Amino acid sequence: MDTIWQRKHILDVDDFSREELEKVLQTTTVMKEVLQRPLKKVPSLRGRIVANIFYEPSTRTLSSFELAAKHLSADVINLAVASSAVVKGESLIDTMSTLEALGSDVVVMRHSASGAPYAAVRHLNCSLINAGDGWHAHPSQALLDLFTIRQFKGETEGLKVTIIGDIRHSRVARSNIWSLSKMGCVLTICGPQVLLPDSINQDPALFPLVKCTDNIEEAVEGADVIMMLRLQKERQQSGLLSTVNDYVARYRLDEKRLSLAKKDAIVMHPGPVNEDLEIKRTIAYGPRSVIKEQVTNGVATRMALLYLLCGREEIS
Ligand code: CP
Repeated sequence: MDTIWQRKHILDVDDFSREELEKVLQTTTVMKEVLQRPLKKVPSLRGRIVANIFYEPSTRTLSSFELAAKHLSADVINLAVASSAVVKGESLIDTMSTLEALGSDVVVMRHSASGAPYAAVRHLNCSLINAGDGWHAHPSQALLDLFTIRQFKGETEGLKVTIIGDIRHSRVARSNIWSLSKMGCVLTICGPQVLLPDSINQDPALFPLVKCTDNIEEAVEGADVIMMLRLQKERQQSGLLSTVNDYVARYRLDEKRLSLAKKDAIVMHPGPVNEDLEIKRTIAYGPRSVIKEQVTNGVATRMALLYLLCGREEIS
């Protein structure tokens, strides 16, 4: 029996221990080696069924979970919500119970409502992976980000990581703040005051290694890692931003701002990128960007998560 990994579901990373994070990193390294083989397939999930159900659009997360399951030899159901019985009013409980009745071993779910995965697992006997819920959490993204940071930077203890953008409404930022803090990173989160989370501003004791600022130059200065977030344009409609042009002037990552970071700093973005809005296109596709590596590492990370939840055999 594995003494470190006991989880049935992956709903969040806020309660992951450092040992569990290390276990995911170590398993992802093994999966990355599998992906470098001419035949990128192992039988660990042979006979298992993985059901992907996405109530919100996705390019990276959905395709990488599908590929991950197939590389592990699982059978895969991709339920397209727009053409499913959900549009006829099928409830979340009914959908979960149907996926279970079809024999699913793992359900991978993205939902627009924060907390939906916690409601879903109350009606499931099989495992569930949260592929992003509302503003709340995106655990597999945070884990692939952590793996990518380790790949490029090695030791995480004391590493200066800056996250810039709409932190308040970002499930990616929220999950990364938990996992990177647990790994000893020194975090600066940066954005307009209205888009910074109250919990960090009001309770510094909760995250002693996290600093908030609305000044991008201060945030980027000396950073080892800069993680940009997508500007969610609906924030302007909701009155939280004056104009997009003002946001771009104050928060877009350009060459001048990047030059304030360490010479070997890496630039990350979970995608999808609004090119030339939160980040200049020349940086997003430039030599300091590891955005493509994040996507590639997403497959190995999701293989690791599926394997840890229901893999049958050792990888050889
Ligand atoms: N990073 C991320 O969740 O991307 P998708 O919306 O394309 O899955």
